[in-house]
Amino acid sequence: MLQDKDRIFTNLYGVHDWRLDGARSRGDWDDTRAILGKGREWIVEEVKQSGLRGRGGAGFPAGMKWSFMPKEVDEKRPHYLVVNADESEPGTCKDRDIIRHDPHKLVEGCLVAGFAMGVHTAFIYIRGEFVREAQVLQAAVDEAYEAGLLGKDACGSGWAMDVVVHRGAGAYICGEETAMLESLEGKKGQPRIKPPFPAAMGLYGCPTTINNVETIAVAPAICRRGASWFAGFGRENNTGTKVFCISGHVNNPCNVEEEMSIPLKELIEKHAGGVRGGWNNLKAVIPGGASVPLLPKSTCDSVLMDFDALREVKSGLGTAAVIVMDKSTDVVAAIARLSKFYMHESCGQCTPCREGTGWMWRVMERLVRGDAEIAEIDALLDVTKQVEGHTICALGDAAAWPIQGLVRHFRDEIEQRIVDRKTHSRIQAA
Ligand SMILES: Cc1cc2nc3c(=O)[nH]c(=O)nc-3n(C[C@H](O)[C@H](O)[C@H](O)COP(=O)(O)O)c2cc1C
Ligand code: SF4
Repeated sequence: MLQDKDRIFTNLYGVHDWRLDGARSRGDWDDTRAILGKGREWIVEEVKQSGLRGRGGAGFPAGMKWSFMPKEVDEKRPHYLVVNADESEPGTCKDRDIIRHDPHKLVEGCLVAGFAMGVHTAFIYIRGEFVREAQVLQAAVDEAYEAGLLGKDACGSGWAMDVVVHRGAGAYICGEETAMLESLEGKKGQPRIKPPFPAAMGLYGCPTTINNVETIAVAPAICRRGASWFAGFGRENNTGTKVFCISGHVNNPCNVEEEMSIPLKELIEKHAGGVRGGWNNLKAVIPGGASVPLLPKSTCDSVLMDFDALREVKSGLGTAAVIVMDKSTDVVAAIARLSKFYMHESCGQCTPCREGTGWMWRVMERLVRGDAEIAEIDALLDVTKQVEGHTICALGDAAAWPIQGLVRHFRDEIEQRIVDRKTHSRIQAA
């Protein structure tokens, strides 16, 4: 189990004061000037060496992403950092707790990461529904300005840094990085075709990096405690500590910071009080937020919680939101509900996503009732493959993967439901 001394988010549960004095007593803003004094390249290299992979879902190496930003800043094309605090992935609730209980970690992270990329303005795009969190975050930003930690001479470093809190209007698609840029520019939140990538042409056509809240919030700790300290947790290519969100049929749903690569079973048993009714009452787990394929109990018995281990079992770490389903769960209905979500959240730009999400949801609804032919399961699978990888953004994949996981692991259950309904109809007719 991760020891308390190695936790980055020491106020994740809001037991202590989130304001500047409290944050300082926990080590935040501790000689940030000295970190900046080591230079832009040193920070980028340290984050690279730490092995930190983006915490927003895709797991792209953070230091490498930062190094894609142009080295020289053209006066007419300022660099921007956009922090993704949209957090709308079902099951995911870690960024919210970081913001409301430990906001200074994020604000300091904006300065450290922003400085490393030649940024003078960082935007934190926060989900509209996070009203209280936005207030806390704004208050933390205001405190930082008043204390001279942000502003024209941030931390006395000579570097000017502004942080702007921008509230979204509550759309899942605005969490997609280029839709977020459109939304920030005041337009409809619809993903852009890539390339060009944001590091070349992002916000207002300028070089931009978009990172998740957790990715940015851990950067100062990495610089302070060293890349090798962070890389000492987890496994190669899957390093560091990670905030996991555990929800569903567990005795104690919670957010917890743990070592990357912790076994899923240990995570649930040690931190979430175990599965309701005991481990043997487990049916399935969605390990990384609604978008990733679920895993049956047999896989959950031994799988590790990291990017590579979950990819090997055809799922993903995603946002590390662990959704636990016990044997009372109608797993077909659960996935059908997610299909409805993706249909509702599709921005409608691409035909496979716009038409496919609705089509898949309608078939899923019939499968819940068993009101289908067995051959339709393969037809549904075929449609998921036509959507996956054929759209502008990954929402299409996100709509396809949960269904693929369901068919992969619970095909028997779907078929049985169809057979049962037909048998029932025949008996009634007779
Ligand atoms: C439909 C959709 C929704 C997304 N929502 C979020 C979100 O709420 N928060 C987030 O950090 N990333 C979200 N992402 C991923 C972002 O596009 C982007 O990869 C991420 O913010 C990069 O940060 P990272 O490199 O620190 O992980 C979403 C992606 C898609 C396709
Ligand atoms: S995949 Fe869906 S959400 Fe993404 S751009 Fe296309 S239509 Fe919009």
